[in-house]
Amino acid sequence: MNYAAVVAATMAPMIQRRVSNKAQTLISPRIIKRFLNNNSRGRNLGEVRGSPVLVAMEYSDLNLDYNSINDTHIDMGRMRQHVNPLTSTFMVPAEIPDWKQVYSDPSLPLMVDIGTGSGRFLIWLANKSPDTRNYLGLEIRRKMVERAQLWIKEMALSNIYFIFANAAVSFEQLVSTYPGPLMFVSILCPDPYFKKRHHKRRVVQKPLVDSILKYLRPGGQVFVQSDVLEVAIDMRSQFDAESHAIQHIDTLDSSGILCDDKGWLPSNPMGIRTEREIHAEFEGAKVYRRMYQKRDIFS
Ligand SMILES: C[S@@+](CC[C@H](N)C(=O)[O-])C[C@H]1O[C@@H](n2cnc3c(N)ncnc32)[C@H](O)[C@@H]1O
Repeated sequence: MNYAAVVAATMAPMIQRRVSNKAQTLISPRIIKRFLNNNSRGRNLGEVRGSPVLVAMEYSDLNLDYNSINDTHIDMGRMRQHVNPLTSTFMVPAEIPDWKQVYSDPSLPLMVDIGTGSGRFLIWLANKSPDTRNYLGLEIRRKMVERAQLWIKEMALSNIYFIFANAAVSFEQLVSTYPGPLMFVSILCPDPYFKKRHHKRRVVQKPLVDSILKYLRPGGQVFVQSDVLEVAIDMRSQFDAESHAIQHIDTLDSSGILCDDKGWLPSNPMGIRTEREIHAEFEGAKVYRRMYQKRDIFS
């Protein structure tokens, strides 16, 4: 057993107890077992430091190859945790890809994940629905995008693509050129930029909300969440302010999930949690979620 497997073996029972106690979210013994099996075959997780082990377990279905990353020029260790999206480097619009080269069927409905981070969340979804939807992840940290692109190449997925982009600058141009309908936008645990003078760095600003509403097809949905109440309320008030165009969904028919009395969804309806969400719930934090649907009459 390598070092990662020893760490995992030691932590797994503790993690399972802690997660189920604090977040009422169970990682099944089957997933833990598969994770440990993978490691005992000599797999180098590369990122097994602290709670990322929990992420690796939740995403163990994907069997992402962490070894191959070490063979590339991508140095994840030297990546910055936060960037300032308002600096001139990040103001350059992303290049519009040739969508026919990007997706095997560019007419499929599109889901865009804004601030997608590592991309595991979107890869998991794309892997589940290879023929029904295309997935586009926008991320402002280039190395994250490079690694995610490597993963989808290895998995030979042709319904998902990641772009190094400042969503505030490039979202509208990207979705306006996509040939199919924009049906889903997610903004999950965006960077909070706590200081008041940094609030303008937050990704959810009025122009982005307007672009989402402009290009989302009627019936299309927007899913937002944050483990920081202030950020969740900020996003909520910006989308609630557009109630003529988009309505808050109180009950999700597909999953039967109901909002609590404050209007927050108690669990993630996507079938998988994001990495930030996993860390936050592991720490015992509440995650505040809202789902919206575009009205038919808005144009
Ligand atoms: C806290 S992480 C959350 C990642 C992921 N959504 C999750 O829930 O695990 C926020 C991500 O948004 C990215 N980000 C911040 N501002 C952005 C912007 N203007 N455009 C695109 N990505 C952005 C950050 O680099 C970071 O990866």
